[in-house]
Amino acid sequence: MRVLVTGGAGYIGSHAVLSLLGAGHDVLIVDSFATSSPRVIKRLEALSGRVLHVIERDVRDYEAMRGVMASWVPEAVIHFAGLKSVAESVADPALYYDVNVGGTVSLLRAMAEIDCSKIVFSSSATVYGTPEYLPYDEAHPTNPVNPYGRTKLVVEQLLGDWIGAREGRAVTALRYFNPVGAHPSGEIGEDPSGVPNNLMPYIAQVAVGRRPHLTIFGDDYETRDGTGERDYIHVMDLAEAHVAALMHLATGERMQIFNVGTGQGITVREMVRAFEETAGVRVPTEIAARRAGDLPRFFADAARARDMLGWMPSRDLHDMCLDAWGWQSRNPGGYDAQEDAA
Ligand code: UFG
Repeated sequence: MRVLVTGGAGYIGSHAVLSLLGAGHDVLIVDSFATSSPRVIKRLEALSGRVLHVIERDVRDYEAMRGVMASWVPEAVIHFAGLKSVAESVADPALYYDVNVGGTVSLLRAMAEIDCSKIVFSSSATVYGTPEYLPYDEAHPTNPVNPYGRTKLVVEQLLGDWIGAREGRAVTALRYFNPVGAHPSGEIGEDPSGVPNNLMPYIAQVAVGRRPHLTIFGDDYETRDGTGERDYIHVMDLAEAHVAALMHLATGERMQIFNVGTGQGITVREMVRAFEETAGVRVPTEIAARRAGDLPRFFADAARARDMLGWMPSRDLHDMCLDAWGWQSRNPGGYDAQEDAA
């Protein structure tokens, strides 16, 4: 299929591009490179053995997106482009609504110009909010507790309205749990700018010597060992879920929503231990107060994706740690610390 991938140079987008190319799809990446590195592109080309189509544009730029649509004429769009820091969304909600909601509005308007009617959207488990029961299934009430989560829910609602407006439109929204790990080559991976917000990149940066210790945010939760429990999903499994989601768009279902997780909760301490064992490196930790806004524990009921998409995660905790470490140890300073010698 001819696919336009927004945010295709980002962490999840770049891994998904590899899976899409591997499955035989034709891909155009549209990325502003505001939160990703252009160096990703060369790595993707080396890994895939293909010359990539890439356009540097901001999805909020409607006129630019019209031009892109008119020249590429995608059969479907996979929409990754967006901002994802909960803390930043609290500090600057207008920015998050502008990029995440405004960007989608601009994209959908540009798609309408060429009658492109299929989209896969990157949503988040954060739309559920405080669990009323666990595991979260897709029918769990949605009540996000921060602006970031609300932008994801608003876009899901927008997409629900969008499909109703014209025959033949189809949406698959994937609610990601906690993506971690990297491509097994260690050539692409997660490269947050500044201090990582998320657990796995933080652990990896401690392991590689960039930071002295991991701060564990709270050890007094009602979990197995007192630390926060999450459903971590290998980014390559998540990437493959997008290939399945793309195929699902053709089934005639108008709007489908799927959890993408493993269904298994892992605590912070369990993750640290698994990483230490896999990498053979010590990761010193210090306990601090709970982080504002953190939930004690949540994990997915992923049965729907299995039953309807035919997708199942195949990588385990060891693979997640091994590949996160492979990326971090080969690229200790991330993409932009590397010399592009070639
Ligand atoms: N944690 C630490 N120390 C750190 C970072 C995280 O102890 O330095 C703990 C957190 O307290 C939490 C767990 O590790 O218990 C996971 O934290 P992450 O920040 O990696 O992930 P979150 O579940 O908080 O957030 C992620 C995404 C959000 C998304 C949310 C729900 O980053 O964008 O999942 O889907 F909103």
